[in-house]
Amino acid sequence: MSQFLFVTDLDNTLVGDDRALAELNQLLQQHREAHGTVIVYATGRSLPLFRMLQTERDMLEPNIRVLSVGTEIYRQGDSPDAAWADLLSHRWDRDRVVATTAHFADLVPQDASEQAPFKVSFHLKPEPAAYVLPELKAALKEQGLEVQLIYSSNIDLDIVPVRSNKGAAINFLQKELGITGDRTVVCGDSGNDLSMFQLVKAKGIIVGNAQLELIDWHQANPHDPDGLPTRYVARSHCAGGILEGLRHFGFI
Ligand code: GLC
Ligand code: MG
Repeated sequence: MSQFLFVTDLDNTLVGDDRALAELNQLLQQHREAHGTVIVYATGRSLPLFRMLQTERDMLEPNIRVLSVGTEIYRQGDSPDAAWADLLSHRWDRDRVVATTAHFADLVPQDASEQAPFKVSFHLKPEPAAYVLPELKAALKEQGLEVQLIYSSNIDLDIVPVRSNKGAAINFLQKELGITGDRTVVCGDSGNDLSMFQLVKAKGIIVGNAQLELIDWHQANPHDPDGLPTRYVARSHCAGGILEGLRHFGFI
């Protein structure tokens, strides 16, 4: 047993089965104390919504928080990492992104708390999504805006800088921490987790309750960035699936 980098999404991945979560928390806490394992939460939530979840559920305090779909990295305290923000600001023009989206009636803005310096978020139903997403992509491109559209759970649309997503943020942290892919594990359930499986050299755990958007993508792209089949699709849901995967890979 030795240190590893444990990265997990929150909603419907870490959180969703309180009993399994309690068991996982205990194992991770022991591992962190004994081996210095690093716990990273990577979520679409903003800082206020992350705080709210912490009051609702029994969660370990993570070492690092990757919030707002990877656009903000927090260590101690409540100021996001400035070097990461610097990287993302390259060619990002938030006002023009917002102006371009105004032409699409199907895009319903999310709450103000979920709008962030590097994230513009909407709700979008799956039926209109089929034509709105390609049209929006084309409109943004026509404006010369290099952005990324991330659609999750058939309802959430995040528009973020082209260099930013959960996967890119984890790559940034992996380098900084000096932890290699064979000692990294990433866990997720939906579209905004896809980049972690796609871009990060790591063992991957897809929980049993994952959205079809992620399962379908995994089946079409079963390999990690090194061309290795390093993903495990769990049978159990949420934290139960994470426990299953961590045992499968021999991390715990
Ligand atoms: C969380 C965020 C929301 C985002 C979604 C998907 O629910 O609060 O803003 O759209 O994750 O990334
Ligand atoms: Mg999720």
